[in-house]
Amino acid sequence: MASTPPRCLRDLGLFARFGVLCTVLTLLGGTAASGMFLYLKQEKRDERAGLTVDDIKGHYHGMSTKAPLLVALQDGHPNELTDSDLPEVERQALIDWLTGDRVSRDFDNFDLGDMAPSEIMAVSCLDCHSRTSEGEHAAPGVPLEYWDDVEPLAASREISPVSIEILAASTHTHALGLSAVTLVLAWLALLTSWPRAIVGLLVGATGLGLLLDIGSWWLTREWIEFAYLIMGAGAVYNGGMVLLGLLVIGDVLLPGKKATD
Ligand code: HEC
Repeated sequence: MASTPPRCLRDLGLFARFGVLCTVLTLLGGTAASGMFLYLKQEKRDERAGLTVDDIKGHYHGMSTKAPLLVALQDGHPNELTDSDLPEVERQALIDWLTGDRVSRDFDNFDLGDMAPSEIMAVSCLDCHSRTSEGEHAAPGVPLEYWDDVEPLAASREISPVSIEILAASTHTHALGLSAVTLVLAWLALLTSWPRAIVGLLVGATGLGLLLDIGSWWLTREWIEFAYLIMGAGAVYNGGMVLLGLLVIGDVLLPGKKATD
């Protein structure tokens, strides 16, 4: 029986090392699961696939997204594809319609005659945008034949940010839970026999990553640019945790050797 507590992981007995191994594996599993949860939860926020910085912006700051129809028209679509231009008057009529507040009512408003959006689109868009369109530039996958087709592309949306209550509750659980877990893992990593400088650098980067990640949740609420810091710092933090975990696992798996001092 050692009379002083072990000062490095390799001094631990077989069972203790086994326990540390299992616990750190669980912790890494938890990190992966929280990454997956974040991805699945935030992914859909901006209604585009994949976790993008826009999902983060929408969640912490709120964001308005422009209707895809409006974006396309303002970008000059479809004139970039063909020589047959969409006349400027009609483009403007569609843009006015999409930026007004009568989008659903005016779509096929009789009173607008040829300038009704449904009429303009029948003439200028359906060659390419009907389910049966074919040809070099056809887009049968984006049909614009009926209001049901057009509606989802015509809506500009406001994504409202998470409420202060939920942000505070989330900060409370994450800040306390993650900092505790991080301290324990950092401590274990400092008890390994890997070079001090490497472990120290990793612990420093991981701690800073955690502080900046959670701190920028609040900063993003005010200044949307901090969404990039959330992503960057979150990546550093998670990467740091994985590396620290691997250092600990490596150390307890390596053959034990008696401390030389
Ligand atoms: C010469 C053929 C052609 C014409 C005419 C045309 N489009 Fe397109 N449009 C396309 C193609 C090709 C795409 C790309 C489809 C894709 O991404 O799968 C596209 C994409 C779009 C998109 C983007 C959909 C998205 O998912 O973001 C919108 C909106 C759109 N068109 C609206 C219109 C409107 C409105 C008109 C009429 C004013 C029009 N288009 C006329 C060929 C055409």
